[in-house]
Amino acid sequence: MSITSEEFLRQAGGPELRRIVYTEEEIAHRVREMGGEITRHYGTGAEVLVVGLLKGSFIFLADLVRSIHLPIQVDFLVASSYGSGTVSSGEVRLLHDPTTPFEGRHVIVVEDIVDSGTTLRRLLPLLQARKPRSLEVCALLHKRIVSLEVEPRWVGFEAPKEFLVGYGLDHAERLRHLPFIASLPG
Ligand code: IMP
Ligand code: MG
Repeated sequence: MSITSEEFLRQAGGPELRRIVYTEEEIAHRVREMGGEITRHYGTGAEVLVVGLLKGSFIFLADLVRSIHLPIQVDFLVASSYGSGTVSSGEVRLLHDPTTPFEGRHVIVVEDIVDSGTTLRRLLPLLQARKPRSLEVCALLHKRIVSLEVEPRWVGFEAPKEFLVGYGLDHAERLRHLPFIASLPG
């Protein structure tokens, strides 16, 4: 049984959306392509550790890993973007830290969306300090608001500068389970 996006949203108790930005089909197609790009990048024999940034990446990661045809391991980390202090403290707190060791391994950090880039700018040096063999970022969406020292090697979509929900992205913890990506009226 399939239901329309409008019907799904009504059942989810969601607000009025501005528009659907990426349909379920468009996302599925692009995520499969990205899995292929990742598979070709590492080539046979490489083992890859895929680390999802929670919570936003959970649906993307689940789909992505099923399109990566390599030996992989999966882990997650939870980072608090703004820590306890001010933005200028330059700190990122890891609320959950992966138990799988990074040293000597090819690591891919999976992020739902790059907005200000603060999360990645703070997190990557911490992860680099663990001496992975390589460290890359795979982001489903990128708003290109700033340019980063280390840009994601793989980006699913160049996102519009609107507030997006669905496919893992939330608005106040709601709407993560929408199978499509939509924008809210701003
Ligand atoms: P950054 O640190 O500013 O790059 O923001 C990254 C995090 O902010 C993402 O992992 C999301 O959890 C959240 N975020 C940024 N933009 C959006 C959006 O449009 N919708 C939902 N969450 C967002
Ligand atoms: Mg969020």
